[in-house]
Amino acid sequence: MGLLLFLCFVSISSLCNIGSSSTAGKVPYRDALLPNGDFEEAPKTSNLKKTVIVGKYSLPKWEINGLVEYISGGPQPGSFYFPVPRGEHAVRLGNEASVSQNVVVKPGSVYSLTFGATRTCAQDEVLRITVGARSADLSIQTLYSSDGGDTYAWAFKALSKVVKVTFHNPGIQEDPTCGPLLDHIAIKEMTPLRLTKGNLMKNGDFENGPHVFKNFSTGILLPPKIQDLISPLPGWIIESLKPVKYIDRKHFSVPSGLAAIELVAGRESAIAQIIRTTPNKFYNLSFTIGDAKNGCHGSMMVEAFAAKETLKVPFVSQGKGEFKTASIKFQAIDARTRITFYSAYYHTKIHDFGHMCGPVLDNVVVLPTY
Ligand SMILES: *[C@@H]1O[C@H](CO)[C@@H](O)[C@H](O)[C@H]1NC(C)=O
Ligand SMILES: *[C@@H]1O[C@H](CO)[C@@H](O)[C@H](O)[C@H]1NC(C)=O
Repeated sequence: MGLLLFLCFVSISSLCNIGSSSTAGKVPYRDALLPNGDFEEAPKTSNLKKTVIVGKYSLPKWEINGLVEYISGGPQPGSFYFPVPRGEHAVRLGNEASVSQNVVVKPGSVYSLTFGATRTCAQDEVLRITVGARSADLSIQTLYSSDGGDTYAWAFKALSKVVKVTFHNPGIQEDPTCGPLLDHIAIKEMTPLRLTKGNLMKNGDFENGPHVFKNFSTGILLPPKIQDLISPLPGWIIESLKPVKYIDRKHFSVPSGLAAIELVAGRESAIAQIIRTTPNKFYNLSFTIGDAKNGCHGSMMVEAFAAKETLKVPFVSQGKGEFKTASIKFQAIDARTRITFYSAYYHTKIHDFGHMCGPVLDNVVVLPTY
């Protein structure tokens, strides 16, 4: 017994935690929809006034504030059409309205939220996401897919065991019901970044990314100004004004592994990473570009920048999911070197001009050369 106690004393194994409550509220790894994150669990009909939800707690699993509508996808009165590509229901956030939910998390972990969001009126629409003290305004003015399938990801670091996740429409429009449509909200705990052997880039294969919906995905837009660590795409910085798209193997053709990036916004969107380098030393940057086999045809060009070097790689997409590898040797100037990529041109799908697309980037590798 003495030995067992001694072992327990020196061991951090939870097996020894007999009678202790420290394992009680343990949160398992999460990569799933939030409770009623698809909004398919409807409010009681007695809590609906036409489409408007009446009562703060009438939408199952959620708290609502302001004018929130419970809508079914498809044609609406007044010649509106609400696209709901997954499931049948969604919510629409009117002027200054919000929906929120308390989510149990692990303090210290980074989580990303993946959610479908579409504007419903022609005005500038913004969706504000707040988790604890952190918040971001997402412009949903530009539609990237013509079927209402625009999906975004946003990340936060959990600072407490329970966080309140809020989606809010900060806008005030003439028509008080005008506002973003919100559907399918999932959460994923991000695995910490690791450097892998044989690559100075972190997450250079883009395998570490946000939750991807199983049934239907037009890719996940990663909004601009995402920085480094607290990111749905760990390690990477989304620069400029427009998002890049995270695409998965199930719904797109990707050069390798399960995921890649599609550069959907031309020069308006660059993706970058800052790596440690030794001044004056030479390095080899290599990467794969291609097309996602998603009807995106034409002459493409990916530009890559590293220290003083620029590489322009042309690629003619026939929409067949082809790809090729390019490389460039550069000499580091500093202890840190920024590696940046963007698409030189804008592209839309050949049979759908409302759907923005572009070249695919994958397998970014930097290695010293000798
Ligand atoms: C996928 O779609 C099918 C049919 O629409 C549905 O029954 C199923 O629940 C969906 N699965 C997920 C994970 O959403
Ligand atoms: C750089 O790496 C690529 C891909 O591994 C390789 O094909 C190329 O020969 C390398 N270039 C140099 C200069 O080492």
